[in-house]
Amino acid sequence: MQFFIDTANLDEIREAQDMGILDGVTTNPSLMAKEGIKGEANVNKHYQQICDIVDDNVSAEVIATDYEGMLREGRALAKLDDKIVVKVPMTRDGVKAISTFTAEGIRTNCTLVFSAGQAILAAKAGADYVSPFIGRLDDIAHDGMGLIGQIREIYDNFGFQTEILAASVRHTMHLIECAELGADVATCPLKVITGLLNHPLTDIGLAKFLEDHKKNNA
Ligand code: G3P
Repeated sequence: MQFFIDTANLDEIREAQDMGILDGVTTNPSLMAKEGIKGEANVNKHYQQICDIVDDNVSAEVIATDYEGMLREGRALAKLDDKIVVKVPMTRDGVKAISTFTAEGIRTNCTLVFSAGQAILAAKAGADYVSPFIGRLDDIAHDGMGLIGQIREIYDNFGFQTEILAASVRHTMHLIECAELGADVATCPLKVITGLLNHPLTDIGLAKFLEDHKKNNA
């Protein structure tokens, strides 16, 4: 299973990369706004800085909602760095743009996916990644995790190569359940990843080992 970090914050990306467990980064316009990054030149510079930190897989989202605009923006983003994956929303024009990008060899991540039907369309268009938003489904009393299992089953039935990138992952149990259900990737804030470190028995056990070592070497 791959871990992506869902942020545009360079310090957090560096911290995750330094842990040696990071496989990629996902961003979106809201995350860029959170960091105060505005204007095309600054946004592109920021993507470049992210690419310089990580080994691969930097999802950069198009803003255009029409097919031609998506193509123009996506091609420009893909030219920034080989690590860029163009993030395209699940709309009619988005599906068409993903098909074209696939034919051109540009990697894509189909975002804002909330149903199995949408995930089928993304796979048919040849998306490299599909991003079901599990937390946002949970927010409206729908079964986010159930959608991950449903997409896994459908993709396995037909051998679709599109990777399931679980997004809107809010806490450690989301992450663990994604792993159980066979999501290929989970993208989440750094605190969800570091939350996996915690277990009181680890802390108690380490304290005891150190205490015994100290006594033994007094
Ligand atoms: O990757 C999508 C993600 O940024 C959405 O997360 O927590 O805003 O639903 P959230």
